[in-house]
Amino acid sequence: MPISVERASQSRLPGLDLASVPFSSVFSDHMLVAEYADGAWKDPVIQPYGPLSLVPNISALQYGVSIFEGLKAHRAADDRILLFRPYENARRLNRSSSRLSIPSLPDGFFVNALHELLQVDEAWVPPASIGALYIRPCLFSTDESVRVKPAERFLFVIFTFPFGSYYSTPLDVLVTEKYVRAFPGGTGDVKPAGNYAPCLVADQEAHDLGFATVMWLDGVHHRYIEECGVMNVFFVVQQGNNTKVITPDLGGTILPGVTRDTTLQLLRDMEMPIEERRIAIDEVLGLHASGELIECFGTGTAATISHIRRIRYRDQDVLLPPVEDRTIGPRARERLVAIMTGHAPDPHGWTYEVCSQPLAA
Ligand code: COI
Repeated sequence: MPISVERASQSRLPGLDLASVPFSSVFSDHMLVAEYADGAWKDPVIQPYGPLSLVPNISALQYGVSIFEGLKAHRAADDRILLFRPYENARRLNRSSSRLSIPSLPDGFFVNALHELLQVDEAWVPPASIGALYIRPCLFSTDESVRVKPAERFLFVIFTFPFGSYYSTPLDVLVTEKYVRAFPGGTGDVKPAGNYAPCLVADQEAHDLGFATVMWLDGVHHRYIEECGVMNVFFVVQQGNNTKVITPDLGGTILPGVTRDTTLQLLRDMEMPIEERRIAIDEVLGLHASGELIECFGTGTAATISHIRRIRYRDQDVLLPPVEDRTIGPRARERLVAIMTGHAPDPHGWTYEVCSQPLAA
């Protein structure tokens, strides 16, 4: 599908201090918009970033027929623009589409669209010393029927924004027993917008008590750790001379994070034993009591690898060693950022270079 380009008459970039721009506060000059109607995707266009004209009865607004992805582009020291594992996001968007009765994009379109949009807004990718360009592809229904039924009209939109970091300090997290994020048969393993709104109250209550976010337990037993805020979660355990990493296994309720998968591979590359399995909150308390729990961190596109400092469960606090005394999480993070920014070899072929040449037809 050829993508047409309508350039903004003026860029908003000159004079902007990218180093001081908070997450999702300033958006790049252009966005990509493609429409699905009459059974086909058509007319993708890169146009100036701005409002869309929509009526209030669309099923994205009424029934949450809306899915999204998140990925990043980095600027390497030699100015190459590198996307990180975009094909994984394309695959996950398709899985979300199937789950929400949304048509999938034509083969190859997702990555081509990113490629072309980034060529137009290449200047918005900040230097690696500042951060990255966050890319938000979203696909939602513009069906105007209020009848509850699979929709027939959709928009696929990609917008982007530069950012430094999502979390700036190690996190204190509160284990919630009052709310659940996902349950068997639900949508926890895909990315509908509707996964996020019901979590806001939990986060707000945690903030009110001085925590950065919540740690989610499973929706059946309220006992097994699933995720942490908008991140997958990892624990590092040291038993005698042996160190291992444990993380909840994907059982249909946990988001298969691209950063989760990447971190697992980086840990394997470091020859770190890994257990992907159910982890009860009592096990974490026990490991902490015996001094064997030495690190905890979350992974996500926005969060990269973010260290967790304290976990509160009921009236018990799991206080983890200072980040300066940790080795596994910081090493994995350093390695990840080095690959993402082209500072280290990329043995797994994760980076995708957006060159300034047009894509071959
Ligand atoms: C991401 O990490 O990219 C996410 O999608 C989580 C989020 C900021 C909602």
